[in-house]
Amino acid sequence: MSPDDLKALVRTVPDFPAQGVQFRDITTLIAHGEGFAAAVEHLAGWAQAAGAEAVAGMEARGFIFGAAVAVRLGVGFVPIRKRGKLPVATIGIDYALEYGSDRLEMDPDAIAPGRNVVVIDDLIATGGTALAAVELLRKAGARVDHALFAIDLHDLGGANRLRAAGVAVEALMD
Ligand code: PRP
Ligand code: ADE
Repeated sequence: MSPDDLKALVRTVPDFPAQGVQFRDITTLIAHGEGFAAAVEHLAGWAQAAGAEAVAGMEARGFIFGAAVAVRLGVGFVPIRKRGKLPVATIGIDYALEYGSDRLEMDPDAIAPGRNVVVIDDLIATGGTALAAVELLRKAGARVDHALFAIDLHDLGGANRLRAAGVAVEALMD
């Protein structure tokens, strides 16, 4: 399927979760077997080219694409979780995103030092979430040079913020 075909599978919901936000909903993309598989194939190709030794994904929608890509490549998956979910001592970071603020946490022992970890999420908007994930992974000793997304909300500038932090960015669609 072409990028335009994939884009047509994303549903836009106005004013969710807040007035003025155009919510780009991947529910309709992942419900489409061929579309979901094509999206994962594209992302897995980029992750492989980046030399991924592990994939990290952010709760919750990042788990959907990140775990699928990890399985496709036969590498491990590192869950970057929202606050209070992990049963061990964590490292964490508070961050802002397009429609609010939150906290991401991870197990600092989840990744061996120096491992090449590729970050995957469904969407990048302001980049607050992805930058927080990169910072956490680097703090845990990972090498993070690549981040992959199904959707880049280009006007919100997140991809450029990531690039400024030394992370190459690819997305299936704007
Ligand atoms: C969404 C999306 C990204 C983030 C992008 O997650 O899945 O993780 O927002 O926004 P940003 O670039 O402005 O940080 P959300 O926090 O809504 O959580 P969810 O995956 O649990 O729906
Ligand atoms: N996460 C941040 N901004 C978003 C948007 N506009 N649509 C879906 N997820 C988002």
